[in-house]
Amino acid sequence: MLNKPVYILGIESSCDDTAAAILMDDKLLASVVAGQEVHRNWGGVVPELASRAHQQNIVPVVEEAFRRSKIHKRDLHAIAYTRGPGLLGSLLVGSSFAKGLATTLNIPLIEVNHMQGHVLAHFIDQGQSMPSLPFLCLTVSGGHTQIVKVTSHLEMEIIGETQDDAAGEAFDKAARLLGIEYPGGAEMDRLARLGDKNRFKLPEPKAPGLNMSFSGLKTSFQYLLRDELKKDAEFIEKNKNDLCASMQGTIVDILVKKIIQASESTGIKEIALAGGVSANSSLREAFIDLETKGYKTYVPAFEFCTDNAAMIAITGFYKYNEGLFSKNNESSLARYPLGS
Ligand code: KG4
Ligand code: ZN
Repeated sequence: MLNKPVYILGIESSCDDTAAAILMDDKLLASVVAGQEVHRNWGGVVPELASRAHQQNIVPVVEEAFRRSKIHKRDLHAIAYTRGPGLLGSLLVGSSFAKGLATTLNIPLIEVNHMQGHVLAHFIDQGQSMPSLPFLCLTVSGGHTQIVKVTSHLEMEIIGETQDDAAGEAFDKAARLLGIEYPGGAEMDRLARLGDKNRFKLPEPKAPGLNMSFSGLKTSFQYLLRDELKKDAEFIEKNKNDLCASMQGTIVDILVKKIIQASESTGIKEIALAGGVSANSSLREAFIDLETKGYKTYVPAFEFCTDNAAMIAITGFYKYNEGLFSKNNESSLARYPLGS
């Protein structure tokens, strides 16, 4: 007898994207993401404004996901939502919605760690090859930079991480110094393609073992701009592409060196990328290049790099198969270490 498919709704609202997705087993039926323009004028995410925007967006985003998936709410088997880490006021909007709908439909609720979601995005079946277990995942986002050892879909351990800023934060802070709107990572990527990454030498901050550090890099970049602007007030405008390429090149070099080091120390040659910064073209190229050195590499589709709810739904699918359901009264967690 054929097993009936499992339909799972995923809800993501940890930062400034309101997202809903519906999976049939591990296949994507619909994924909707509503970003929040409101933060652009402030140079960063304003928690109060994010929470308010989630409240406005959550119902239309979920309705749109159902419309695109062509299934009905009563077809759902479970609802997975992001419990943390993230902004509390933002998390609460998604979790309250998920809890309310699961209660109304009388179906299980599944809490998901956002960072686990980024890793498991590789297992949303789109006909691509998927990492074999065990593998290493370099998760690079605006809030986190981690090297994760994944032994099973539900067992993962951080073996290295940033000691200060995340890689995405380094991109966004450098972009801001260049007068690029928040979040500047994608625009820096675009400009860097037109520039020379060897033009400005930036020191790579040292960090022990598999850990990383990016805050010193931002400071070096800031000092470089300060010194050069004293000599030429138009220094940034004249050299923007090369500045972007040099900063990006240094960040990518740090990340690639550390994942190679992690592979050497664990003996695992299956390596994957995840998180918003994995949309970066230079990082993707450097990763794929590692194939020529005997690594097997996995780079996510663009739509699954930055925050989305399909990654929450796929994590929900694996937890559903293990009967790992949550209570209705579990609180959202601003800090939620992976593996806890
Ligand atoms: O995973 P994500 O969507 O949200 C968090 O959980 O943080 O990651 C957002 C981060 C931002 O810092 C953004 O600037 C960065 O990902 N980002 C990029 C690119 N696209 C997004 N950084 C560098 N190059 C890109 N193409
Ligand atoms: Zn994220």
